[in-house]
Amino acid sequence: MAARIAQTTGAAHTAILGLGVYRPTRIVTNDEVAGPIDSSDEWIRTRSGIKTRRFAGESETIHSMSVGAARGALESAGIAAEQVDCVIVATSTHLLLTPAAAPQIATELGMNAPAAFDVSAGCAGFCHALAMASDLVRVGTANHVLVVGVEKLTNTINPTDRSTAFLFADGAGAVVVGPAEQQGIGPVVWGSDGTQSHAIRQDKDWMEFFAEIDEKGLDAVRPYMRMEGTAVFRWAAHSLEKVCRDAVDRAGLSTDDLDAMIPHQANGRIIEIMARVLELPEHCALANDIEEAGNTSAASVPLAMEALLRNGESKPGDTALLIAFGAGLSYAAQVVTLPDWR
Ligand SMILES: CC(C)(COP(=O)(O)OP(=O)(O)OC[C@H]1O[C@@H](n2cnc3c(N)ncnc32)[C@H](O)[C@@H]1OP(=O)(O)O)[C@@H](O)C(=O)NCCC(=O)NCCS
Repeated sequence: MAARIAQTTGAAHTAILGLGVYRPTRIVTNDEVAGPIDSSDEWIRTRSGIKTRRFAGESETIHSMSVGAARGALESAGIAAEQVDCVIVATSTHLLLTPAAAPQIATELGMNAPAAFDVSAGCAGFCHALAMASDLVRVGTANHVLVVGVEKLTNTINPTDRSTAFLFADGAGAVVVGPAEQQGIGPVVWGSDGTQSHAIRQDKDWMEFFAEIDEKGLDAVRPYMRMEGTAVFRWAAHSLEKVCRDAVDRAGLSTDDLDAMIPHQANGRIIEIMARVLELPEHCALANDIEEAGNTSAASVPLAMEALLRNGESKPGDTALLIAFGAGLSYAAQVVTLPDWR
């Protein structure tokens, strides 16, 4: 008979204990991005809801932005770096296949050899990582998990590409997940549709690029991120209502119980459509950080959460629906209690 292997038990309940963000210092107007794509401030505002976004400078890296956001999250949670025993970094723009960004970020934060790894689930990465963090604490694999969503999309976007150049931007958001007296992170509803993997993608893989260099030398064109905007828009606007409703249902709540909805800041029109089809109650705040942050992919949900709390539209203890979606295509949604935030 096989030897009996012991199993751990963790916290009965988990919650987001703290939140921090890093917004790059340089604010970029629509006029600045409009030139190379023959667009205009008016077109960008009406089609995407974006007024300004932030582009990271050279010294604002995946690592430095993550560390900045994480320090804020640890401080607001009142948790010391050494208490964190797992770090999950959600990103699609750490441009090194190996090693992952998380171990170095953990070291820079002064952590004591935690488990540390990256998650690649496009714009849905933060909500995937949050779900994993909560489950790790509940089964006792970890006590405190730092979850970071970070992107430097300006490194992957062609500034002359009309469907991406005005949309994507840079930033980082982080939360600490740990034990709590009552459940503050609902069950995740997540999934993917690989038949749509072409809709948001890197346009050539590295081997294709190296072959192109061999063939064309300096005329080789580097890989860029591409998006079939209309296909993504249709999918997001019409397929995600059920995901949102299932997440609320699995949390044992109804949409009337929601104080806030914090969707991935993909496009202002998608956010509006989602809120409308869900028939959110009047008192429910709707995150609209895209106006000032653009689409920051895996960073957008924690950044939007911080904006709602900072501008007073939401308060700690409020019940919020998170939903994120993007490359894969992939999606994840859960209901959370908003953290104490200073
Ligand atoms: C990118 C997006 C804003 C484009 O809007 P759209 O309404 O689908 O635009 P279309 O590509 O159908 O083009 C409509 C018109 O605008 C023009 N256009 C396209 N991009 C433009 C730009 N950047 N500036 C000005 N005009 C533009 C097109 O040429 C077209 O003109 P025409 O009607 O004279 O032919 C929209 O598809 C979108 O936001 N999709 C979802 C993206 C998303 O959320 N991605 C994130 C998922 S993580």
